[in-house]
Amino acid sequence: MNIAENLPKNIVLIGFMGSGKSTVGRELHQRLGYPLVDMDQVIEQRAGKPITAIFETEGEPAFRRMETTLLGELADPAAPRRIISTGGGVVGTAENRALLRSMGYVVWLDAPIRAILERTSKNRQRPLLHTDDPAAKIRELMALREPLYQETAHLKLDTAGLDSGELATGILECARYHFSQRPQ
Ligand code: S3P
Repeated sequence: MNIAENLPKNIVLIGFMGSGKSTVGRELHQRLGYPLVDMDQVIEQRAGKPITAIFETEGEPAFRRMETTLLGELADPAAPRRIISTGGGVVGTAENRALLRSMGYVVWLDAPIRAILERTSKNRQRPLLHTDDPAAKIRELMALREPLYQETAHLKLDTAGLDSGELATGILECARYHFSQRPQ
């Protein structure tokens, strides 16, 4: 069987910082051969500096504008099939959420706060967590964003206890089922 049979145009990964979007994205890329777009990486390449520096010198609103511009480009219906790994705050506007839903199969990778705190504490690449109390910030942002992830995703996966291979298998099976049930 063709591995891409019954699959949507794009598979889009959303979820909080440290939920495993980049790792699972790489796994899906290897399995399907679709190009992988890591939105944070593209934004860094375009800006010529890391995200922390974009936040410091231009501010978060400038970063959010870059994010929406890139999303608009990726949502071009003429674009090839891709795996798209997003930044955790991409669901912040109704415009972005509509673009995400229009792009293909949207998967929310959910992770417990404890796991997010552990993973994000390993480096200083997330400017929103440069606070005295990152755990409180994670809880605050999570409370705001959970309903937005929920509203945007076709599928929610609890990542606790699963490795990236198991998550990729789950995503592919659910995506095939979802699209085989829809009138083409
Ligand atoms: C952000 C998440 C980051 C990055 C930026 C803002 C957020 O991406 O886009 O630091 O608002 O949650 P990851 O989710 O890949 O860490």
